[in-house]
Amino acid sequence: MTEQLSSYTHRVTAGELEGKVAVVTGAGRGLGECYALALAAAGASVLVNDADADAAHRVAEAITSGGGTASAAPGKVGPQSAADELVAQAVETYGRLDVMVTNAGILRDRVSWKMEESDFDAVIETHLKGTWTCVTAALKQMRNQGEGGRLILIGSPAGQFGSFGQSNYAPAKAGIVALARTLSMELARDKIMVNTVVPTAMTAMTATIPVYQEWSAAFEQGLELPAAARQDHALGEPGDVTPLIVWLASAASEGVTGQAIGLGGDRLTLYSHPAELRTADHPGGWTTSALDQAWTEQLSADAQTSGGPARPDPREHPAGAQTEPAAGG
Ligand SMILES: NC(=O)c1ccc[n+]([C@@H]2O[C@H](COP(=O)([O-])OP(=O)(O)OC[C@H]3O[C@@H](n4cnc5c(N)ncnc54)[C@H](O)[C@@H]3O)[C@@H](O)[C@H]2O)c1
Repeated sequence: MTEQLSSYTHRVTAGELEGKVAVVTGAGRGLGECYALALAAAGASVLVNDADADAAHRVAEAITSGGGTASAAPGKVGPQSAADELVAQAVETYGRLDVMVTNAGILRDRVSWKMEESDFDAVIETHLKGTWTCVTAALKQMRNQGEGGRLILIGSPAGQFGSFGQSNYAPAKAGIVALARTLSMELARDKIMVNTVVPTAMTAMTATIPVYQEWSAAFEQGLELPAAARQDHALGEPGDVTPLIVWLASAASEGVTGQAIGLGGDRLTLYSHPAELRTADHPGGWTTSALDQAWTEQLSADAQTSGGPARPDPREHPAGAQTEPAAGG
């Protein structure tokens, strides 16, 4: 279902993106649709890309009928030619490009011993390659314009922590964070800010995750999500993520670059970058027995866990029950 432009006016400051031109990939539904509407509500002209042409047209129409400026740009991101066409269409239609949001995504989840090469390739093609091709096409245009710009890449908690059944998606999303960090260094002088947004929201994609199926069904029925969902799991409606996208696209975030920032439900999260936790030197080089001793005595206390922090079990926090204090307490 296509949402209304007016639903986003309370989340953004009117006119804060006036004169700016943005591309959002995969904007025909879900989070991308909300990003496109919110960017338009803030005054940007938006190119609405999606592999589903009808969906892209529907969202562009929702923006223009609400008084915003948008055009549909249907097509499947991944290949360089698709990225180049998107940037060319933005420049032909609106004269410039200021913001690229690489949101298009698919899932092909299976445990690794059942995953096909085609499942791996499809996810890498859409997420990692689709992001690289779109941001490199965009940054060339932005460098030519010489007025800075904003690249907003979309990551996932799966890429930050690892995720069971997602040996294709998790490394694609982790790669996107590394890409943003790398580009933030390369583009600092050009004042092109590059950040990764790590969104979480109730969408068609979340509905496929078994542990979230009850919350997802309840959300579909219009029931209010519990504080455990909106805070501990950072899960709310897709529109909750939009203020971060608009802020990163705006002048207010000038100087913010190379960051991975999460938003979902009520919770904003700044992610750490990998850091050296402990180092040990063994003059002349290590032996396996010295390494075994160092692991046991110096490093093992800081051994890292996979899968992210423990969070409340969704089954113990049904939607609509209203039994929890608002602060999650
Ligand atoms: N929903 C979440 O909680 C969540 C969490 C972490 C990350 N994300 C990421 O956010 C993004 C959007 O997720 P969503 O939940 O809105 O998904 P969604 O499935 O609801 O929407 C994805 C959209 O991308 C489009 N798309 C797919 N492949 C495409 C391609 N090659 N080119 C152009 N469009 C394409 C689809 O047609 C669809 O409209 C994805 O990158 C996803 O990995 C979502």
